[in-house]
Amino acid sequence: MTDQSTASGVTLHGIEKWFGSVAAVRSLDLEILSGELVVLLGPSGCGKTTVLRMIAGLEDPSQGDILIGDTRVNDIEPAQRDVAMVFQNYALYPHMTVQQNLGFGLKMRKVPRAELDAKVSNAAQVLELTELLARRPGQLSGGQRQRVALGRALVREPSVFLFDEPLSNLDARLRLEMRGEIAQLHRRLGTTMVYVTHDQVEAMTLGHRVAIMNEGVLQQYAPPLEVYQKPANLFVATFIGSPPINTVSGAVKSVGGRSVFEAPGLELELATPLASEPATLALRAEGLSLLENVHEVDFTADVVRLEPLGNEVLVYLDGPASESWVARVNPDHPCAVGDTIGVRLDRSRIHLFAGPNQKRIQTRLDAEDSLE
Ligand SMILES: Nc1ncnc2c1ncn2[C@@H]1O[C@H](COP(=O)(O)OP(=O)(O)O)[C@@H](O)[C@H]1O
Ligand SMILES: [Mg+2]
Repeated sequence: MTDQSTASGVTLHGIEKWFGSVAAVRSLDLEILSGELVVLLGPSGCGKTTVLRMIAGLEDPSQGDILIGDTRVNDIEPAQRDVAMVFQNYALYPHMTVQQNLGFGLKMRKVPRAELDAKVSNAAQVLELTELLARRPGQLSGGQRQRVALGRALVREPSVFLFDEPLSNLDARLRLEMRGEIAQLHRRLGTTMVYVTHDQVEAMTLGHRVAIMNEGVLQQYAPPLEVYQKPANLFVATFIGSPPINTVSGAVKSVGGRSVFEAPGLELELATPLASEPATLALRAEGLSLLENVHEVDFTADVVRLEPLGNEVLVYLDGPASESWVARVNPDHPCAVGDTIGVRLDRSRIHLFAGPNQKRIQTRLDAEDSLE
């Protein structure tokens, strides 16, 4: 099954999609390399499914070009595009066995019997369904059914796989298991995959690159770690990460020749001078240090809630400038609800966002490093 198909890249160029007056996708440029696993991530309604359906040919773009490999496919029928799509609501034929479900698409295309059998048994082997070939969907677990749905895409040997939230109907444990299987499948086949999800953990763990969308607009397209560490704008910063990133509304100001970020009860000096304008500071929970010694701290805060997670504790704080802060600390860190403690913000991990789109204007306050 390894050399089954030649992978093709997918290029979206200037794609727009309107449903009447609703803009589902706006001026989208996206290049998915051959063999890459790209995740489209964003909140419900941001246009993910629409993008996938346009690649599959189930929806025509209002504007722009779609290329699979070097071929412009705008006018090519879905069946001729050499893509296979796995949906969230995979409908297996209940009266057919697993074997028949897997082979159905090939049978419809009049693939010779021997070839059909070989492909089905190959797919069954890859997905560990061999023992289940004689069963009907009603006799399978949710995870097994999902694997059959994957298998139906697999037997087509497409050069691009499209997945639309394929795991969202499974329970947490099965999702984790299937996530691993999809990653493994990708490694084994090396086929280009475009995977849609609204689940950031799924996106971060599966994707080589993650394309984050909001309201039809691509926000950032980068490897998972980069999206986490260098969010392009405030939307990405707040959408990615758990607990949500701490944010503080304030302004960059010039005070006595120094450039500072100022918010009620908080003033932080900037190593690199920036233009004065309203700005938002953001810092992840791991960027806060809690200190009993109140020298050198940025502010003091009251501990209002503790969330022990075993390997770490989330400490919720009532401090200045923000409605609430959250810090991530070691479980052996001594603090209790009601304590007043000192908080030090790690300058090297602070982001500043400004402008109409709240773009990142600075990534650390303590050094020259800015945007790269
Ligand atoms: N067939 C359609 N007719 C009208 N509006 C649609 C249609 N399909 C999607 N939309 C709208 O386009 C936007 C994007 O939808 P969709 O791509 O399904 O988002 P997602 O998959 O990210 O949840 C939404 O506002 C949705 O209501
Ligand atoms: Mg969708």
